[in-house]
Amino acid sequence: MYLSMQKNFRTFTVLAFIVTFTMFLFSFTLRDPSLYFFKYAIRKSDSFFSNGQCGCRECMTELDDDPWFTERFNLSVPPLMSRRNSLLTDDTYHWWQRLQGQKDPANFREVVEKLFQVIPDDDDLYKDAGPERCRTCAVVGNSGNLKGSRYGPLIDSSDVIIRMNMAPTSGFEEDVGSRTTHHVMYPESAIDLDNTTSLLLIPFKTLDLQWITSALTTGSINETYVPVRSRIKANKNRVLIYSPTFFKYVYDTWLERHGQYPSTGFLSLLFAVHICDKVNVYGFGADRYGNWHHYWQKNYHGGEFRKTGVHDADHEHNVTMLLADKHKINIFKGF
Ligand code: C5P
Repeated sequence: MYLSMQKNFRTFTVLAFIVTFTMFLFSFTLRDPSLYFFKYAIRKSDSFFSNGQCGCRECMTELDDDPWFTERFNLSVPPLMSRRNSLLTDDTYHWWQRLQGQKDPANFREVVEKLFQVIPDDDDLYKDAGPERCRTCAVVGNSGNLKGSRYGPLIDSSDVIIRMNMAPTSGFEEDVGSRTTHHVMYPESAIDLDNTTSLLLIPFKTLDLQWITSALTTGSINETYVPVRSRIKANKNRVLIYSPTFFKYVYDTWLERHGQYPSTGFLSLLFAVHICDKVNVYGFGADRYGNWHHYWQKNYHGGEFRKTGVHDADHEHNVTMLLADKHKINIFKGF
């Protein structure tokens, strides 16, 4: 009895020593203060090896960051529009107005003021980066390569789940998941949302800002350059506006002006890169047979993203791949 107790005690001491030594080694090898390590290590499995820039194992920004990434990544450009940052430079305003060539746009300032009387004006949203935060994000594009992927549970386990345009979840849960925290759209691609999802509008023209104001209130606008939905089901208190300044920054800096303007997918991806600590990307690119259709379409030749003519899909793909090579995003290729 005494011998067995002694043996147990010895085993316990050896184990305790190994655990303490390993923890010491990790906190010593990693560059952040060891206090962060002990404080945040057990919060999430992903944060176990946190390097202190954020609470995750790998963070969007690292101390010895890649020069290609650092040259481009500019946290001082806010991704979302607020009253305070809504004033556009002449250059940005003219570039933005030319995207869809709206004739005789209404007064931009007045339109913005009316908009923020309907939706919240929060200047601090997502600006909480730091050693305590490990925000994991799933950016879900609409590619047919999601079909049969069974990524659903993985996507649903993220903190932030970004979907776009017409993307349905109902009937596709196994492959694409069922949760959506952010749904990115523009008037011509709008769908109804549930009460918990943030509608993230990408405005391409002043009329789009008027449209969202109207679609959430009077329903008076039913046409842009094509007929659009006059009303939309969405939680007014969760509506967000993609900043035209950020839009131009993505085009100039990340796409180096390839194509006429970035795709919804690429704009969503860069939004995630700026507000998340860890970004997983699903549903981008062709399926394994080279088809570029949507995951809900049976017809392989419908709505092919690559042939829209306005986006440089190849260049977007190359930049996305570079982000993955630099360990800034993880790409899930699908099937
Ligand atoms: O077709 P749609 O624009 O609605 O798709 C949303 C985004 O998903 C695209 O902007 C593109 O970035 C991505 N996508 C893709 N490959 C496809 C279909 C969509 O990369 N086959």
